[in-house]
Amino acid sequence: MTTLTPPDIYMKEFYLARKSLVEKMLSNTKNIEEVFKFAGPLLSPMVATYGPAGINVAPFMLTFTVNKKYLNQAVEYLRNLNNELWSKGHIVYAAAAKFLLEWIYNPERSDPLTLSTHLMIKGHTYTNIKATGEAAIGVLIPPDRGALELRAEAEIYEEGPYYEFVNLLHDLMHAVPRGERSHPWYPALILRVKEIYDNSYQSLGKKIYP
Ligand SMILES: Cc1cc2nc3c(=O)[nH]c(=O)nc-3n(C[C@H](O)[C@H](O)[C@H](O)COP(=O)(O)O)c2cc1C
Repeated sequence: MTTLTPPDIYMKEFYLARKSLVEKMLSNTKNIEEVFKFAGPLLSPMVATYGPAGINVAPFMLTFTVNKKYLNQAVEYLRNLNNELWSKGHIVYAAAAKFLLEWIYNPERSDPLTLSTHLMIKGHTYTNIKATGEAAIGVLIPPDRGALELRAEAEIYEEGPYYEFVNLLHDLMHAVPRGERSHPWYPALILRVKEIYDNSYQSLGKKIYP
């Protein structure tokens, strides 16, 4: 569990910048593609690994997680929400945005230094993380104002609350609105940020956390 406070630049340019996208999503649920159009680097940072599959880098859509002590509650909440809203169309995005604001972007419940995604294929990233338990994450601050390098402990879950959290949250955005799923649940990747470097032109790789 995270105890230290993340640096200001991480909170402002990554966590709070993503929170503001969710706020915009809440006021424009009919056209969320427009909201997220230029947010690619913040939503899908590059994840670099090394190991038996060689050195590798690939973009992954990452999400902040809830603090571990609220994980079971969040899973239960999401499970009920998904059942209740199955196939209800674009109004689901309003409920999804509210969930994100109340759990993921609420300082009481969130863990800004733990990121999550799912692995749709047991490819290079999966193989390397299984072997090394480490990853580096490159976050470009759009359009090119800076960059953060996050060094993380990485763990893959194929069952249990993190697995359910990641897949239920993915379903809420991608399966629940249309009431249709295009793929099964996938392994969850949890990235616990341990070190942060500021790779902007001004700081040139200065360590800013811990
Ligand atoms: C913008 C973007 C976001 C992506 N997000 C994911 C994701 O969340 N999960 C995933 O499994 N693959 C995602 N991919 C595909 C992966 O980057 C990658 O191509 C695939 O998982 C195989 O990578 P690997 O064998 O290098 O691990 C994304 C691709 C793009 C372009």
